Amino acid sequence: MSEPMVPMRDLPPGERLFRLEPRFLWAAKTMSDLPPMGAPEVCFAGRSNVGKSSLVNALVGRKGLARASSEPGRTRELIFFAIAGKDEVERIRIVDLPGYGHAVASKTEIARWNEATRDFLRGRATLKRAFVLVDSRHGLKPNDLEVMRMLDTSALSYQIILTKVDKLKKGELDVVLGATKEALKKRPAAHPEVLPISSHENLGIGQLREEIATFSVD
Ligand code: GTP
Ligand code: MG
Repeated sequence: MSEPMVPMRDLPPGERLFRLEPRFLWAAKTMSDLPPMGAPEVCFAGRSNVGKSSLVNALVGRKGLARASSEPGRTRELIFFAIAGKDEVERIRIVDLPGYGHAVASKTEIARWNEATRDFLRGRATLKRAFVLVDSRHGLKPNDLEVMRMLDTSALSYQIILTKVDKLKKGELDVVLGATKEALKKRPAAHPEVLPISSHENLGIGQLREEIATFSVD
């Protein structure tokens, strides 16, 4: 059974945006090999294994666009995806960042990714919003707070996404949502809304598409 046809123009902006062709644009290991600036960018930051790459795939509706894995430390570069129209004009870029708080990779490699990621989060004119992903089972950890402090200092607007909410028992989501919102109250660059998401069960994905679409260019 195919879905009923809804004309593109009648869809909400986020649904329209994410029906366009997503493509891999660039992988950067250091600040010096970032792609030239272009369309507005949003990025996904968070601890290793929290579900950043899976969320990129859920948004674009493609299982294999970003490489997700149960092995922490999968994404080792800043991976840029672009969504462009038929005219090839980029509407938005989505940047999948390496995770933090993962001790298995070699020290020098960690220094390199952390530095590149930190520099990117601090000084990129086209970066409009960082989404900081937090595992809903664990809540905010000290290294999340450290990243949030850095984002507050650089005045980059950020929003917390609680991931893997399919793993929570009834009632647990309200508790973690309440605690997370409380922790955001005094953070100047934090968006007060927290988005609960499950990439596996497609929960909250539509809302995040609409949020991202507010940064896109027509
Ligand atoms: P790094 O690149 O290592 O930093 O990890 P990441 O944050 O990109 O995580 P990734 O998307 O690779 O997912 C890590 C693991 O979490 C994989 O085993 C995914 O299948 C699982 N996962 C991701 N999203 C969800 C979700 O919504 N629900 C559940 N239950 N598992 C998820
Ligand atoms: Mg990843």
